[in-house]
Amino acid sequence: MNHADDDLQPDAILERLKGAAEASKKRADKNRVASPSADVAEQQIDLSLRPRSLAEFIGQQRIRKVLGIAIAAARGRNEVLDHVLFSGPPGLGKTSLAHIIARELGVNLRATSGPAIERAGDLAAIVNDLDRGDVLFIDEIHRLSRVVEEILYPAMEDFELNIVVGKGPGARTMRLAVKPFTLVGATTRSGLLSSPLRDRFGQHYHLDFYSRAELTEIVRRSAGLLKVRLDDDGAAELAARSRGTPRIANRLLRRIRDYAQINHAAVVTREVALGALELLEVDGFGFDRMDRAILSALIEKFNGGPVGIESLAAAVGEEADTIGEVYEPYLLQEGFIARTNRGRVATQRAYDHLGVKRRGTLL
Ligand SMILES: Nc1ncnc2c1ncn2[C@@H]1O[C@H](COP(=O)(O)OP(=O)(O)OP(=O)(O)O)[C@@H](O)[C@H]1O
Ligand SMILES: [Mg+2]
Repeated sequence: MNHADDDLQPDAILERLKGAAEASKKRADKNRVASPSADVAEQQIDLSLRPRSLAEFIGQQRIRKVLGIAIAAARGRNEVLDHVLFSGPPGLGKTSLAHIIARELGVNLRATSGPAIERAGDLAAIVNDLDRGDVLFIDEIHRLSRVVEEILYPAMEDFELNIVVGKGPGARTMRLAVKPFTLVGATTRSGLLSSPLRDRFGQHYHLDFYSRAELTEIVRRSAGLLKVRLDDDGAAELAARSRGTPRIANRLLRRIRDYAQINHAAVVTREVALGALELLEVDGFGFDRMDRAILSALIEKFNGGPVGIESLAAAVGEEADTIGEVYEPYLLQEGFIARTNRGRVATQRAYDHLGVKRRGTLL
């Protein structure tokens, strides 16, 4: 029996898959700690403030309702929930919702991310390891490589893995059945997802920025958990300056808590909140230094645009992807910049906000 035949034995394949599952778990953990954007302390706070059920999750009402029905129906029929895709800017609750789904279904969640899965075999191993009904959460799913993605198609559709065994003309594809599972994907860039992948999700939810009222409720809840006394005006001020984003609201709340403690303020009032926010250079719209740098570059260096995102990014010394994913969505939604097919332009609101007069245009 030659080596290739050995490889074709189902037991040998399963053994290999198990080994690969362990290796990929280790790689995923390493990735998390080493990632430059991963602030470990913040992740821990995120965890402690993370809503644990749909009932605790504030805002995104339509999503909560539709998802709640889908979960209850799947449970009622004892079926596996359809695959779910969450898209939207960072910090709006995609990861929280993935965990909530698993919890409400009463199943295990296995979390990984697009960049952590290096080889097709890694993903095959993870999928093979799941129990019936488990949630496989893939964060940054738009960053899966093509070869890895191709393993997902039959796995999502038919709960089957197509594994290529051997090399060259002797290579064969083996089909291996896996237990039905729910894939939950999260992405800040749903536009970058290939359409075959996007089409295989039975449910797609896009998360929008939160309203002030919702953010007020969120900061009240977080203040309760962090044992911070926050009055109504303090909560409203904080909510107004959180860029529609729960993660930012929680981050600012922690800074304000420090500020209140050092200043012996027992209660966070509007004055206390404003004092801290000023130090943090967060302005009345919740814009920070980078938001203002983007607006000011657009106006001062590019005469209001239109300008491509690459040039804009170079002008402020930030990566184009970060500008596009983290900063631009809120500036767009609040109408400070607009997108044209020739690039980004500053709107009158941006000029007003920075107190700059529009230079004469050649009209
Ligand atoms: N609806 C909500 N109600 C209360 N808190 C929330 C809500 N959504 C998010 N949060 C808070 O914001 C934090 C960030 O949310 P989460 O990690 O789920 O965002 P995300 O969309 O996965 O972000 P990223 O794209 O960066 O991964 C959570 O830990 C939680 O504390
Ligand atoms: Mg997340």
